[in-house]
Amino acid sequence: MALFSKKKDKEQVLPQNLPAHIGIIMDGNGRWAKKRALPRSMGHSAGAQTFRKIARYCSDIGIRHLTVYAFSTENWRRPQEEVDALMKLFEEYLNEALRDFKDDTIVVKFLGDRTAFSPKLQALINENEEESKDREGMVLNIAMNYGGRDELVTATKKIAEKVKNGELSVDDINAELISDSIYTAGQPDPDLIIRPSGEFRISNFLLWQSAYAEYYISDKLWPDFTTDDLDEAIAEFSTRNRRYGGV
Ligand code: FPP
Repeated sequence: MALFSKKKDKEQVLPQNLPAHIGIIMDGNGRWAKKRALPRSMGHSAGAQTFRKIARYCSDIGIRHLTVYAFSTENWRRPQEEVDALMKLFEEYLNEALRDFKDDTIVVKFLGDRTAFSPKLQALINENEEESKDREGMVLNIAMNYGGRDELVTATKKIAEKVKNGELSVDDINAELISDSIYTAGQPDPDLIIRPSGEFRISNFLLWQSAYAEYYISDKLWPDFTTDDLDEAIAEFSTRNRRYGGV
């Protein structure tokens, strides 16, 4: 059965052409708020609503892995008021996920260094992972205090430590070992990375994993991004000719 078949004017995407893993850089919350003369925190609240809608939709249409960039290792440089508002949003969402999603199928994982968060937020992160780990649906990776460079530095230290104590030899170091040593270990690389708000930047997101990802840039600001926009990104993705360096 083709997906999106209820939308007559849309290209139809066969399940085998769906991306197994989608990454989203949820950008444009600040500009969305500015356009409405609202504080930036209101843009993030609106962005959190879009995140809920899009994550649910991805799970419904059969996406197996979704990674959202919620807070980068560089985002601590923002004004304290904005950082606090984001931490509050994360707590709200993680409380809601624990309270309301008991029968959900979504597996929730976190990418990034969680030790920088408050003990309360760390406890919520751990509880969500523990509570959802045996589910069989889509894996939702929430990248928080995540940076691609930081991820590679952490993995490199882990590997160097193993070489030092004799668990590994230098010849054991290869791409597979690195993939197995980063936060997304065991998950497929992203096929499609979506960046709303018209920016053409990677911004330290999934640097290792995105080696062969297809990028899709949308002009919509994240809070305005809809399930139709996601359908369009997937439909376009399904027409791309991926060669992985071959011909
Ligand atoms: C980038 O837009 C967005 C962020 C730094 C935060 C993203 C967070 C959310 C959408 C909150 C919800 C997440 C969860 C997991 C509940 P920006 O502020 O840089 O926008 P701008 O470029 O227009 O200023």
